[in-house]
Amino acid sequence: MPAIEQLPGPAGLPLLGNALQLKSSQVYRQLCEWADRYGSIYTFRIGRRRILVISDAALIGELLRDRPEKFRRWSKMEELGLEVGADGVFVAEGQKWRRHRELVVPAFDKLHVKHFWSRLEAVTERLENHWRARAIARRAFDIRQDSMSYTVDIVAGFAFGHDLNTLNDKDSVLQGHLSQFLHTAARRQAAIFPYWRYLKSKLDRKFDASLAQINQTVNEMIAQARVRIAVDPSLCERPGNMVEALVAYQNNNDTRALSDGEIVGNVLTFLLAGEDTTANTIAWTIYYMARHPDIQREMQREVDSVIGAGTRLSDIRQIDELRYVNAVIQESMRLKPVFPLLTLEPNQDVLIDNVSVTRGTPLFLLPGHLGQQSGCFTDAWQMRPERWLDDARYVDDNHKAFMPFGSGPRYCPGHRLAKLECLMAISTLARNFHVLPDPDAVETSEIYAFTLCPSHVPVLLSKR
Ligand code: HEM
Repeated sequence: MPAIEQLPGPAGLPLLGNALQLKSSQVYRQLCEWADRYGSIYTFRIGRRRILVISDAALIGELLRDRPEKFRRWSKMEELGLEVGADGVFVAEGQKWRRHRELVVPAFDKLHVKHFWSRLEAVTERLENHWRARAIARRAFDIRQDSMSYTVDIVAGFAFGHDLNTLNDKDSVLQGHLSQFLHTAARRQAAIFPYWRYLKSKLDRKFDASLAQINQTVNEMIAQARVRIAVDPSLCERPGNMVEALVAYQNNNDTRALSDGEIVGNVLTFLLAGEDTTANTIAWTIYYMARHPDIQREMQREVDSVIGAGTRLSDIRQIDELRYVNAVIQESMRLKPVFPLLTLEPNQDVLIDNVSVTRGTPLFLLPGHLGQQSGCFTDAWQMRPERWLDDARYVDDNHKAFMPFGSGPRYCPGHRLAKLECLMAISTLARNFHVLPDPDAVETSEIYAFTLCPSHVPVLLSKR
């Protein structure tokens, strides 16, 4: 039974380990590169801390399912989350996690995505009008910015019922601050030492300012929800958004009710978990649409037949008919998994793949890397949407190696909303516009900032 130190891995320096080889914006790709070199289970060090990296589909699935009892999220995530007030379901553990998940996820489901349709339609109409103006201007632009505004407007509506309209209000602070937040979180995740607690760099000071702004916005939204409930107590029975649902538990004296701080933490969690992930999925899908005119034509053919004379989906049931568009989104998620690295640790000494691993050892799982493994997917590096449409050429694909939303009891509770947002935005784009890459722009690169972001997605739109 080998000890973790005996596993293969990159050589490091005595005190620093491999820290100098890990640039925070490239951490994920570096870990994948090492996985290609050292295998599906290897080790490296950040300072003295030894980390186990796993990119085996069955093993990842097993560890994710064995939560919260045998494994938990890496305690550093909880530490970093609590430090900035994100005291919500993502960082909670054990009984606390059960309580948060039990209250927050149904609160989210209660406002079932179906009931949210009219808000989604309104935000999508705004996006369509915005793109029409872009097409008329005939100038290249970075469409990733639009996808970020779109998703922050939707998730904020869902979380606290407020229409932020960041798409038209470029001075709106929230969206920029959320991105700033994630960049800093990624940097701190890879840091050897929590230097920011002693000495703040310019970036850390910028982060503190962003955090203060986000907290101010969230607290204002919660205060407004309380006023609405005080004026109309019947809202406790039929809350219109997540904050109202969570405040209702408090007003009903439910013993499980979240504290004020936990409500703030969960709103912050949903904003962070829901914005960049979905925005980057939309942005990467557009990136591929622009580079594959044949795929784009097929998407246009499908949306034309589903939408008919209109310019957007008009009924939620139409999303099931967008099979090809859905396949393109799935394929983009396989090639550019936006949440590709999950970090856990064992709650007790365990055997993982016959390696003895002590309690508290950080485990870095690379579900995103599985998508590009030739052992898991035929033509792994090619964009092949038809693989998701029961095409006989791809019968050997291992769909269990595709887990963009995680697995097990902590599976992403936002997956339905995310899918709906992606389908709405992408089908609207395909129905109304041709998308071309900007020939003068520098090539898009990947940036790992907790999510895998495109550096930019510069495109030209023309009206169909
Ligand atoms: C394409 C978009 C999205 C992707 C790829 C994604 C992916 C993920 C992944 C991989 C996890 C970790 C799952 C695990 O540990 O097994 C997660 C957790 C989570 N996601 Fe998402 N997500 C997306 C959108 C959203 C949205 C729209 C929301 C809410 C508005 C959301 C809320 C959450 C929350 C609250 C958790 C923590 C769940 C827990 O720890 O119990 N996500 N997501």
